[in-house]
Amino acid sequence: MNDQYVVIGNPIAHSKSPDIHAAFAQQTGQQLSYTRCLAPLDGFAATVRALIHSGCKGANVTLPFKLEAAALALTLSERAREAGAVNTLSFIGDDIVGDNTDGAGLVNDIVRNARVQIAGKRILMLGAGGAARGALLPLLHEHPQQIVIANRTAATADALAAHFGARAEHGQQMRACTFEAIDGAFDIVINATSASISGALPPVPASAFGAGTLALDMMYARAPSVFMQFAASHGATVRDGLGMLVEQAAEAFYLWRGVRPDGAPVLAQLRERL
Ligand code: ATR
Repeated sequence: MNDQYVVIGNPIAHSKSPDIHAAFAQQTGQQLSYTRCLAPLDGFAATVRALIHSGCKGANVTLPFKLEAAALALTLSERAREAGAVNTLSFIGDDIVGDNTDGAGLVNDIVRNARVQIAGKRILMLGAGGAARGALLPLLHEHPQQIVIANRTAATADALAAHFGARAEHGQQMRACTFEAIDGAFDIVINATSASISGALPPVPASAFGAGTLALDMMYARAPSVFMQFAASHGATVRDGLGMLVEQAAEAFYLWRGVRPDGAPVLAQLRERL
């Protein structure tokens, strides 16, 4: 029987992960099966235990279980510990290994797919929730000159900047500010708020964008988000979160199978079907 993998969430019917992993398996010649798994809201741990019992090799974890997955894992990677959340579980013998590939997915989408270098750049991170938290350590590891975290609730951004500022290297700046205090243009602006879900625009000033800016919304939909429209109207090159989705899956596939798929053709396929 092929090795079994799943994506666990609630709801889960909409998940594109089975299509992405099937495409990766075909591309790399790996024999595996990857299916959706709906866990009851109060039954994540029991679902994982049943999967392990059935011989499942690994799971991706999506909303609303990423924090529970971090608590359930017996071994955590550094990036999962720093993110405080797990999106990839590997079942290895008696161990449950938790990792977080979301930040690596973001970085790889920016560097490989958008072909924008992060080293030496000024980054503006909008939002200070789980999505922002998961991205900060992988971004820091790319050696940006500066990361500014702007959030509606200042205290959350302050806490994130203090925590990850301690991980910054000599010469790297990490600071928090309010949306009103955002100053000057940035090379990369990342919308890690959940505002796009409700069609809202985070109150980022137009001056944050320029002709040299890459503006990336972690959300994706058929039509560009209001954030992408706003950024584009002020000269930025824009990108949604579909590439990040594909690249976080590529990183999970690599963890499980030891083979790194090429995300670009899979991203192009998904884009056509969106
Ligand atoms: P996620 O895991 O997707 O990051 P989260 O942890 O609930 O979700 O965080 C949501 C983020 O989006 C927060 O930074 C939130 O700001 P607050 O901390 O002030 O709540 C931000 N957010 C949500 N809606 C927003 C909006 N309309 N404008 C600006 N920020 C918004």
